[in-house]
Amino acid sequence: MRLAHFTRRVFLRAAAAAAFVGTQTPNLLASAAPMSPGARELTLVSGAKMPLIGLGTWEADPGVVGSAVQASLDAGCRHLDCAAAYRNEHEVGEALAASSVPRKEIFITSKLWNDRRRPADVEAALDKTLSRLGTDYLDLYLIHWPVVWAKDSVMKPDAQASLRETWQTLEKLVDAGKIKHIGVSNYNEAEVKELLSYARIRPAVNQIELHPRLPQTQLVKYCQSNDVCVTAYSPLGRGSKTKAGLLTNPTVTQIAAVHGVSPASVLLRWNVQRGVVVIPKSVTPARIRQNLEEPWSFRLSDQELAAMATIDDGARFCSPPWSTFGDRTRSDDIVTSCLTRLASGVFAVASLDITK
Ligand code: A2P
Repeated sequence: MRLAHFTRRVFLRAAAAAAFVGTQTPNLLASAAPMSPGARELTLVSGAKMPLIGLGTWEADPGVVGSAVQASLDAGCRHLDCAAAYRNEHEVGEALAASSVPRKEIFITSKLWNDRRRPADVEAALDKTLSRLGTDYLDLYLIHWPVVWAKDSVMKPDAQASLRETWQTLEKLVDAGKIKHIGVSNYNEAEVKELLSYARIRPAVNQIELHPRLPQTQLVKYCQSNDVCVTAYSPLGRGSKTKAGLLTNPTVTQIAAVHGVSPASVLLRWNVQRGVVVIPKSVTPARIRQNLEEPWSFRLSDQELAAMATIDDGARFCSPPWSTFGDRTRSDDIVTSCLTRLASGVFAVASLDITK
């Protein structure tokens, strides 16, 4: 029985990782208080503004992501969340090139993949992303996961590289003007703390999975109280792609009905109201417009927030084998070790495009 359970988890992890093509998440000031209903941007430490609602492009398929970006810019969105690992940056770039919105009005984030940790590789990866997106600078560049893999490998540690050296390289790229802000993604509290101990340029953002089933209140508080803004990826619990059921959760749908808005808007408002940036992914123009506008049309009451707090059950919908989340179990670690040895080929296939 236990073996069957273990085998099933190994299988599920492998399937999740094979399907995984990268992940993605604001940047708040230490003083970041819950947002006033009208505030649509955060002011970063640098004084730059970061729109609280952006467009996520993870799992936006090639062929449709370009029109989603176009629809989003047309609807007034000025914040795009991208990553090399999503393998669709070239199409985002084509949509940007076709748009009449000036580059300087758009906040563009991208992410450095896990096997690009040595200084020369970091800069080459950034240059590729810049070229795909058709821009000469990024507003924000994130370390996608707090792991150090050897070049062109999957989950093979690189003893000659370190996150510290990667960060120092990113700092130099800020100095060189290729990046305006640097940050991290999927970092837990201890990892943010360690980074803060040596960062010359402080991380502007930690992008993490956040929705009412996974509020991560302590980590959000820690980041915000240390001037690290927080961005929520998968703020809708990945819609109907997972069993998150957040869009059909009775508490969420009831609150949505009271305000005459969609369940998605309730979920987005929930994060935005605590000063957390959201990057809902959608390739559907009507949803893109709704996600951008509706969350500003109402405010969640204390009573509604208390009701939503009961949804928290710690469920994660993005937990690949290399993740370092504090809630990983011993069996997760065993699974990771098995996968590293036995199934890295699967991941290599999944990440081939990233390393090209
Ligand atoms: P689609 O891209 O087909 O519009 P998350 O951002 O949490 O990862 O969720 C993304 C998923 O949620 C996608 O499947 C997306 O579908 C769906 N989605 C995005 N916006 C809405 C919305 N306003 N209402 C319902 N589903 C949405």
